[in-house]
Amino acid sequence: MASSAAGFSGTSFLLLLLLASISISTAEIRFTEIRSDPRPIIPFDEFGFTHNGRLELNVSKLSFSSPDPDLSKLGFFLCTRDSWLQVLQQIEEGEVACALQSDIVKPVYNFNSLPKSATGINHFYLQSDSDQYTLVFANCLPQLKVSMDVRSAMYNLDGRSKTRDYLSAGITILPRVYFLFSLIYFTLAAGWIYLLYKKRLTVFGIHFFMLAVVILKTLNLLCEAEDKSYIKRTGSAHGWDVLFYIFSFLKGITLFTLIVLIGTGWSFLKPYLQDKEKKVLMIVIPLQVVANIAQVVIDESGPYGQDWVTWKQVFLLVDVICCCAILFPIVWSIKNLREAARTDGKAAVNLMKLTLFRQYYVVVICYIYFTRVVVYALETITSYKYLWTSVVAAELATLAFYVFTGYNFKPEAHNPYFAIDDEEEEAASEQLKLEDEFEL
Ligand SMILES: *[C@@H]1O[C@H](CO)[C@@H](O)[C@H](O)[C@H]1NC(C)=O
Repeated sequence: MASSAAGFSGTSFLLLLLLASISISTAEIRFTEIRSDPRPIIPFDEFGFTHNGRLELNVSKLSFSSPDPDLSKLGFFLCTRDSWLQVLQQIEEGEVACALQSDIVKPVYNFNSLPKSATGINHFYLQSDSDQYTLVFANCLPQLKVSMDVRSAMYNLDGRSKTRDYLSAGITILPRVYFLFSLIYFTLAAGWIYLLYKKRLTVFGIHFFMLAVVILKTLNLLCEAEDKSYIKRTGSAHGWDVLFYIFSFLKGITLFTLIVLIGTGWSFLKPYLQDKEKKVLMIVIPLQVVANIAQVVIDESGPYGQDWVTWKQVFLLVDVICCCAILFPIVWSIKNLREAARTDGKAAVNLMKLTLFRQYYVVVICYIYFTRVVVYALETITSYKYLWTSVVAAELATLAFYVFTGYNFKPEAHNPYFAIDDEEEEAASEQLKLEDEFEL
């Protein structure tokens, strides 16, 4: 897996992520200000409808750059991605002059039904064909500039209770998914506290750091569950998103720091950090700040917001740099241990540490590869109805990584990381011999 990750060329990697991540549908009530905009096509938001879909469209402060435009050439419509390609083809082949005239799109509101001298619309639209649609404004008058404030709310009605569900069809069960995972991490944190207490004689500073990471992950998932469930019910976030961003940010920083610290062997191999290892942290931590700012802008502006693509690129670039940077300390440690195994008397212990570090290196790479590439690939190939599966896949991979890290670096008298005396050296060489025999 590691080698295929390395074989992936950088550009296609970025491109894949960029294309794939466009498919994430955020669905909230959205307000958009359009000012003197000449664009022929303005996409607003994307949403996965069930058979009971609704769209509320409120336009206000409507004005045009020329006094009496042909209003039939202006309007809103819904369109799936596949049919959008067909519409483009129709326009190219001259079958239709304007996307609004195509029979493939679902017209929502044509401006020729606008009452004279009105400056606003309040329109309600029923969508009973389940699919993932994008709300688009078409302006088929080349010279015309349009200004307006648009409020769009897309939601599905629940089958029985007829309550509104503002989450897109494929992600409507996410609040429950996040809540379930937060319970799992809560259990892990409790188990870890118990372990720290039981093995308190062999506990190092890094073990408390690991506890902090798990607790932050729990809180992060809890806020995400509450945030999503609030959006599901009301269509807006109401502050839970702020808490979520704060915990995401802390969790991001501590997780990357933890991987660096474990990679350097800090606290159990040596009590200090070397200068170059400190430099890695000094690169990774500020970059995580940037990554989190980018994440906030990306989430809040939606896939068609201004500068969305720029921030997405910033985020991906920063993320890729961080992921590469955290691998260096592990590589340095492996190199040091290999040298030590040759020169030191305690060859066996060093070799076992080396094996564990190599394992950890592979697992970190697999974790990064899976959560970055495989998950985004999953997101693109799965139907909009099953978007939640990629979230579950990412969370399961993350959980596996946390469990692996905790299990291998748990406080334990006979953990080869902490083995120092002769007795343990002997035990280690016994085990190495055993492992050698198995390999033969
Ligand atoms: C938006 O339009 C819908 C449909 O006509 C209407 O029910 C709703 O009250 C309007 N909302 C606002 C904020 O004007």
